[in-house]
Amino acid sequence: MTQVSGERAPGDEGDFTVSAHGLDQARFREVLGHFATGVTIVSAMEDGEPVGFTCQSFTSLSLEPPMVAIAPAKSSTSWPRIAKAGAFCVNILAADQEALCRAFAVSGGDKFAGVPWRPGALGTPILEGSLAWVECELESIHDAGDHELVTGRVVGMAVAAGHPLLFYRGGFGTLAC
Ligand SMILES: Cc1cc2nc3c(=O)[nH]c(=O)nc-3n(C[C@H](O)[C@H](O)[C@H](O)COP(=O)(O)O)c2cc1C
Repeated sequence: MTQVSGERAPGDEGDFTVSAHGLDQARFREVLGHFATGVTIVSAMEDGEPVGFTCQSFTSLSLEPPMVAIAPAKSSTSWPRIAKAGAFCVNILAADQEALCRAFAVSGGDKFAGVPWRPGALGTPILEGSLAWVECELESIHDAGDHELVTGRVVGMAVAAGHPLLFYRGGFGTLAC
């Protein structure tokens, strides 16, 4: 067993231990929940049907060539359909899209029912009202524990006016500029 004792952060009630069998998952989620991020919906067209899921694990990866990365869970039912499509759009959500974010975070059903979108150059669904989007060709998929690490080559992008939807410690918020 490997023991790691770190500096206690202010307000950090407990210590944590790394065992050969993995970290305390709840503690791991709690600690990583302190990394505030934006939220996205990753969307694609599969056999003429729009498909998508809510995704927080999104990052810029490379400037030249322009690439981004996402991390879909192996348990996702939407991701295999998106991977099959070979192209996807990362819709960066605006502050007033929390309901949409929650709707795309539930497995099954027709998530796109009543959701306005338009096709990008690669035909992927660009959700109306998003703060920004990047349309990508699927570049590579790497095994990463209970998730996959996916890279996309960006072929189109745009921004709109507004404020971001943020996710922090399991809750939603926005920037009070
Ligand atoms: C704020 C938030 C962030 C999420 N981030 C991710 C993520 O980065 N990767 C992932 O696979 N699932 C993430 N999820 C969970 C998926 O959205 C959810 O498991 C998925 O929508 C299930 O539907 P599916 O079976 O259609 O893929 C997140 C959910 C929420 C609410």
